[in-house]
Amino acid sequence: MRKPPLSGIPAHIGIIMDGNGRWAKQRGLIRTQGHLEGLKAAKRIVKAASDLGVKFLTLYAFSTENWKRAVEEVSFIMGLVKQYLRAEFDFSKRNRIRVRHAGDIAGLPADIQKELAESMSNTADFEGMQVVLAINYGGRDEIVRAFRRFAATGQDMSNIGENDISAYLDNPDIPDPDLIIRSAGEYRTSNFLLWEGAYSELHVSKKLWPDWDKEDLEEAIADFRQRDRRFGSVAAGSVTAGSVTASSVQG
Ligand code: FPP
Repeated sequence: MRKPPLSGIPAHIGIIMDGNGRWAKQRGLIRTQGHLEGLKAAKRIVKAASDLGVKFLTLYAFSTENWKRAVEEVSFIMGLVKQYLRAEFDFSKRNRIRVRHAGDIAGLPADIQKELAESMSNTADFEGMQVVLAINYGGRDEIVRAFRRFAATGQDMSNIGENDISAYLDNPDIPDPDLIIRSAGEYRTSNFLLWEGAYSELHVSKKLWPDWDKEDLEEAIADFRQRDRRFGSVAAGSVTAGSVTASSVQG
């Protein structure tokens, strides 16, 4: 028997958009064609998430490791990012979507930095869903940069705590993701939101990213709703006065 829903729409969803290359290969197409279709899927999912009332959507568009790919593929993805930022302004305005960035912006090509800065500033007052584009993003890199920012304030590093690190991440005002989705079937987090995702629920779908549609997002959310989120505490209903079983005290 399925459990009744324990929570509603997750406030923050992160997505590892994987499988563009495989999608193209299955069709005898070049990898970049898969990324082009991947961008279309990203647009569908942004619209769907906004309609469903998701507050924050983080899309893993380009990792710190993705620079190892062929130069042509990297510049194609950067071109898609630029296209997305330019072409989506009207859509963002209509849907009040605010664009943000996670990652090392200084390591991006100057034109992408400029487009990102413009999109972020043009949408800064929009009060709808916030789309965080993770570009040149790595979870470890973000944590290192947080430490560096903290150190630059001159505060005593020997007493650094979790809240200090959280406060110097790329978007400290954004709540941790409730749900992290990965398309294309691999069970790994690939350096995505390492700090923020400590207690995120994971949903892995076999479907390749370019095939993703609103129904797939709804399915992931329905799966999330069945989860019993404990945040390291005890399972609901497993504690009677004065009794905690060893099996109930798990993450
Ligand atoms: C992973 O698939 C996908 C990427 C590294 C790029 C994702 C980028 C986009 C969808 C376009 C930009 C998006 C936005 C929102 C601006 P893969 O190439 O690793 O696939 P494979 O594992 O099947 O080879």
